[in-house]
Amino acid sequence: MQITSFKQYEEDYKKSVENPEQFWGEVAQNFQWRKPWYKVLSWDFETPTIKWFEGAKLNITENCLDRHLANNGDKPAIIWEPNNPEAESVTLTYKMLHERVCRFANVLKRNGAQKGDRICIYMPMVPELAIAVLACARIGAVHSVVFGGFSAKSIADRINDAQCKLVITADGAYRGNKQIPLKDVIDDALIGCPTVAKCIVLTHVRTPVSMLKGRDVWWEDEVKHVNDVCEAEEMDAEDLLFILYTSGSTGKPKGVVHTCGGYMVYAGYTFTNVFNYQPGEVYFCTADIGWITGHSYIVYGPLSQGATSVLFEGIPTYPNASRFWDIVEKHKVNTLYTAPTAIRSLMSFGEEPLEGKDFSSIRVLGSVGEPINEEAWHWFDEKIGDKKAPIVDTWWQTETGGIMISPIATVTPTKPSFATLPLPGIQPILVDENGNEIEGNGVSGNLCIKFPWPGMLRTTYGDHERCKQTYFSTYENLYFTGDGCLRDEDGYYRITGRVDDVLNVSGHRIGTAEVENAINMHAGVIESAVVGYPHDVKGQGIFAFVISPEMHGDVELTKKDILQTVTRVIGAIAKPDKILFVSGLPKTRSGKIMRRILRKIAEGDTANLGDISTLLDPNVVQEIIESAKKS
Ligand code: WTA
Repeated sequence: MQITSFKQYEEDYKKSVENPEQFWGEVAQNFQWRKPWYKVLSWDFETPTIKWFEGAKLNITENCLDRHLANNGDKPAIIWEPNNPEAESVTLTYKMLHERVCRFANVLKRNGAQKGDRICIYMPMVPELAIAVLACARIGAVHSVVFGGFSAKSIADRINDAQCKLVITADGAYRGNKQIPLKDVIDDALIGCPTVAKCIVLTHVRTPVSMLKGRDVWWEDEVKHVNDVCEAEEMDAEDLLFILYTSGSTGKPKGVVHTCGGYMVYAGYTFTNVFNYQPGEVYFCTADIGWITGHSYIVYGPLSQGATSVLFEGIPTYPNASRFWDIVEKHKVNTLYTAPTAIRSLMSFGEEPLEGKDFSSIRVLGSVGEPINEEAWHWFDEKIGDKKAPIVDTWWQTETGGIMISPIATVTPTKPSFATLPLPGIQPILVDENGNEIEGNGVSGNLCIKFPWPGMLRTTYGDHERCKQTYFSTYENLYFTGDGCLRDEDGYYRITGRVDDVLNVSGHRIGTAEVENAINMHAGVIESAVVGYPHDVKGQGIFAFVISPEMHGDVELTKKDILQTVTRVIGAIAKPDKILFVSGLPKTRSGKIMRRILRKIAEGDTANLGDISTLLDPNVVQEIIESAKKS
C-alpha cells in the first residue's frame, strides 16, 4: 500500500475518487481482521451516519502487536527517552510491549473494567502511557486520554461527560526542571466524579501521594497479581476505540469519537505513506499522546506498521536547546515529526545548539498542528534536513483521525508552507460564505471535505446533535473543517488558519469561549472577550479584554489573579498572554461582541477598523484604543 512515485499517487488518487469502496477495501487487506466486512462504506452526511467496514471484526492491538511477533518480535517498538538526559533510555521490543500490554489489560479487568467502559488516562509521557492506551483497546474499553497540562476541573468535566469508570494516572510527571503532581490534580478532580470506582497509580517521580483506600491502587502492585496472557476482545469495526476531547468555537470541549476499524486503516495507511516509512527506521514524533497527533502517530499508526517509535518525556529546551538534536543523534532518528512552534522556539536560540550535532540519519521531516511560516520551513529544511530531507507539512485535525492534506515524502514535490495535495481518498473543496463551491485554481475559501474517509469522527460523545451542528450543518452535505484555505495555481493547498473562534496557541487548540468563561469565573470580572493575535513563537497569542471595575491591590496583581483563575479552570496552556482592562466591549445593537474590531486592536492595526457604525456605542472603540496605548 506504499506509494512510491508521483504517477502512482495520481493513479491511486483517481481510483480512490472513482471507486472509493474498492480502493479502501484493498487498503484494508493490509491489516489483520478476525472476520471480513460485508460492506466497505455506508454514509450520509445529513444525519450524519458513517460506517466503514461494516460487519468486520478485529482488535487493533492484534494489528499493533500480535501480528509483528512472529517475524519482528525482537524489533524495537518503543524507544523511551526520559526527561533527564542522564537517565537511561528504555527500549521495548514488540514482544516486550505485547507482554506488558496483556499484563496491564489483565490489571484493568481485575479492577472491574469491561468492554465498552470508558477509562480516563492522565499520565506523563512514559512507556506506561502507551501501554495503558493499548491495554484499554485490548479489552475493548474506550480510552479518553487527557493531556497532562489540563486542570482538575477540566479533567472532571471530561470524566463526567464520558462517565468514566476508571482512571489511570501517575504520582507525578517531569517536565524540564519542573515536577507536576498528577495524582494531586486527579484527587481534586475525583471529588466531583461519582462514576469513578478505581484509580490506578503508576510510580514515576515518587513524590508523596494520598492513596484512598478502596479506590486507589498502585500499578506496580497490581501487575504482580496477574499474568501476561490476555486474549484480545473481538471488536466490531464500528465499536468505539477512543474519545478525545477537543475545543470548538462554542461551549465546553467535545468528545470526538473514533471507532476501531476505519481509524486503524486510516492511521496505518497515512503513516506508512506520508512518512514513506521503511522497515528498520527510527521514527520520532515529538507530540504528546494527550493530543491526537500522539494517538495516531506515536501509538496506533507506527505500531500498526511495525515501526520503531520514539517516545520523549521532556521538552525541547531541557536541559538546553540541543535536546531534540541530541535525541536525533543518540537514536539515529530517520524521521522527525514536530510542530512549527517548537521549530520557531529552537530557531530563536541561534546556531549554537546545532553545532557539532550529527543529523546524517535524518531522511524525512514533518510538521503538524498549525501553519508553518516560510522562515521556519526554510530553517528546518536547511539546518536539520540539509536540504535533502523532504518536509511533509501535514494538515489534519482531531476529528479527521489522520493526515488529510500533505506531501507524500519522496513522492510529492514540496513548496514552503503548503500542505500541498490531498491524500488518496480525501476530497477537499473550497466554499464561499454561502456554501457555493469555489472552483479552479488561484482561489481561497473555507475548507470542506465532500466525501467520507475511514478515519473521520463518527459522533461527539453523548451528543450526536452537536456533531451534526458543528461539522455537518454549516454547509449542506459537507464536512466543515473550520479552516480557511487557499489553492494556488498548481492546485496546491495552503491552510491559512481557523475561520471560527478557535485559537491555535503553540499548536494547542483553545476555544475563545472557553477562555472567556474561565476569566468570567474570577470574582471581580463582569465580562470579557478573547481574541488571538500573531505571536512570533506560539503562532497565536491570547489577548483578553476584561471588564473588572473592582481590583484587589493593583492592576498587575489582579491580572495575576485572573491568570490563576484560568489555570485552575482550564490549565496553564490557556493563560492569556495579554490582559487589557476596559470599561466596555464593542457590541452590536443585538448584543454581539464584534471580535473583528478587537482582533484589529490586538494586532495593533487600529488604522483599519472598518465599519463601526453598527455598534451600540462606537465611543467604546476609542476608549479601548486609548487604554491599549497606555498599557
Ligand atoms: C491546525 C492537530 C496549518 C488547523 C493534528 C486545524 C494546521 C487544527 C496544520 C487542528 C497544518 C493542523 N497547517 N494548520 N499542517 N495542522 N492545523 O485538532 O487549524 O489539535 O483545524 O489537530 O490545527 O488541531 P488539532
